[in-house]
Amino acid sequence: MDRCDNRLSFAAAKKKVLCVGNTVVDCISIVKKFPEPSKPEKCGNSFWQRGGTAANTATVLQNLGVSTEIFVMLSTNPMFELMLHDLRLRGIETGNCPRDESNPPFSLVFLTKESNTCTITNCTSKFPYVTLEDFKKLDLNKYGWIHFRGREPDVTTSMMELVAAHNAKHKEKKIFMSMDVTMELTNLWPMLDLCDFAFFSKQLATMYGWPKTREACRRLDDLFRQRNSKNRPYSVFLWGSQGAGLLDQDGNYVRMHAYKIKRVVDGLGAGDAFVAAFIYAMYVRERSVTVAATFANRMAAHKCTKFGFDHLA
Ligand code: FRU
Repeated sequence: MDRCDNRLSFAAAKKKVLCVGNTVVDCISIVKKFPEPSKPEKCGNSFWQRGGTAANTATVLQNLGVSTEIFVMLSTNPMFELMLHDLRLRGIETGNCPRDESNPPFSLVFLTKESNTCTITNCTSKFPYVTLEDFKKLDLNKYGWIHFRGREPDVTTSMMELVAAHNAKHKEKKIFMSMDVTMELTNLWPMLDLCDFAFFSKQLATMYGWPKTREACRRLDDLFRQRNSKNRPYSVFLWGSQGAGLLDQDGNYVRMHAYKIKRVVDGLGAGDAFVAAFIYAMYVRERSVTVAATFANRMAAHKCTKFGFDHLA
C-alpha cells in the first residue's frame, strides 16, 4: 500500500469534515517592495485564486484525502462560477451552501519579496454570511468535525449550540468543534466555551500587545481563568515563522518550533494549511496534540515554499 492509499484508507473510516466560514476571490500581486502612497510599484506577477479561510482549509483537507464539505455563502455572479467549478473539481462538497446575487467578496493581497510579508485587505462586509436557518438544514450525522470561522459571533454561537445539543444526544458519536480566532475576544467567549480546539492568530496577539508566544499563551490562560468557564478549548497560538504555542485546558504551555525553509514564496493561507493539517492529524490519524502541531508546523512551512495549496498532498 503506498503512502496515498494508506492515507485514503484512514480518511475513509471517518465522517466528513465541515468548514464553516467564507470563500473569497483573492487578487494577488507579487511586488519587491510594499507600494508607497502615490508611487507606482512594479508588479512581478499577479493572479487571482479562490481564497477564504473555510475554502483554503477545505482545499488542504481534501488534498490530504479527507472528505470535506464547505458551508459558506456562494455568489451567483458569473465570475464566481470559476471558483465553484474549482471546488467541484476537487470534490469539495458545496451542495448545502446558500446563494446570494451580490458581487463576490474579494481580498487584495500583496506578497512582498523584500520583507517576506503577506498583506491582505479583505472586503467581505457587503456580502451576506451564512444563516442559522440554512445551518439547521444540515444533517449533522454526516460530520465528525466542524471547523468554524470565529466571526459573526451571534449566528456562529447558535450554530455551535445546535452541534452541542446534537452531541448531548449522541454521546458516542461526538462531533468535534474548532474555530479560528482573529478578532477581539469580547464577543467570542460563548463560542470558545463550546469548542474543543481554538486556533488563535498572531494578528490577535499583536492587537492585544502580547509580544511573544509564551506571554500570549499566559495572558490567554489568565483570561480563561478569570472567566471561570466550565469548558475551555485546547488552545493553539499560531506564530508564523516562529511556530506555535500550545495551551491545554489546565493552562500547561508547550512551545512548538517552526520548521525552517530556505525561502518563503507564498505565505498566503499558511495558517489555514496549519489548521487543516492539525485537524487531519488529530481527527483522521488520531495523533496526540503535540504530534498534530509538529505536522501542522511542517505543512504550514511547506505551504510557503510554493504558490497555492496543491503541493500539500
Ligand atoms: C488567508 C485568507 C485569504 C483571504 C483572507 C480572508 O488566510 O483566507 O485567502 O483573502 O484570508 O479570508
